Amino acid sequence: MKRILVAAFAIGMLASGASFAEDDHSKMHEMMMKQGGGQPDDRIELKLPATMKAMQKNMMRMHLDTVSEITAALAANDLQKAAAISKDKLGWSPAEEQRCTKVSEMTGEKDFVSLGKAVHMKADELSEAAKAGNRDKALEHLASLIKNCNSCHAKFRH
Ligand code: HEC
Repeated sequence: MKRILVAAFAIGMLASGASFAEDDHSKMHEMMMKQGGGQPDDRIELKLPATMKAMQKNMMRMHLDTVSEITAALAANDLQKAAAISKDKLGWSPAEEQRCTKVSEMTGEKDFVSLGKAVHMKADELSEAAKAGNRDKALEHLASLIKNCNSCHAKFRH
């Protein structure tokens, strides 16, 4: 009897698992259609060599990590730490300028520098607000900074 119960339970789990998967699939489809699925990706392609693309994406993942570190420091109310990370890892610097300019020169896309600079300048503003002890302002800058990241993603692709 116990075995039958166990078997019935297992079959029940499998069956519900299968219907979950089906539900997920149709939900995913619905969501993709709502978000303009099936429409062409008409962003500008950055014509860079594969190695440069890999480097750029690596840099991007580091930036996303930095955004997480800044968020964590703000959440912990460690404003000086948030200020330091924002300035040191994401602030506007000769190195960042050189990197953004290089991509711009290689692709002929001038906007790449201005869109990149907007992110880095925002990181400096965030840093200043955090340094001054203004967490609310720092969070506002963080929200704008993330929007600035996506302004470039909306325009360019690999
Ligand atoms: C000036 C342009 C630009 C800015 C600014 C920018 N990105 Fe990107 N990002 C790109 C491009 C181009 C890609 C490659 C997209 C593709 O694969 O088609 C990319 C890809 C990414 C990826 C995917 C990496 C992967 O492994 O595929 C992440 C994550 C990312 N960016 C995070 C960020 C974050 C976080 C910021 C802001 C702090 C940011 N980006 C700002 C241009 C930019």
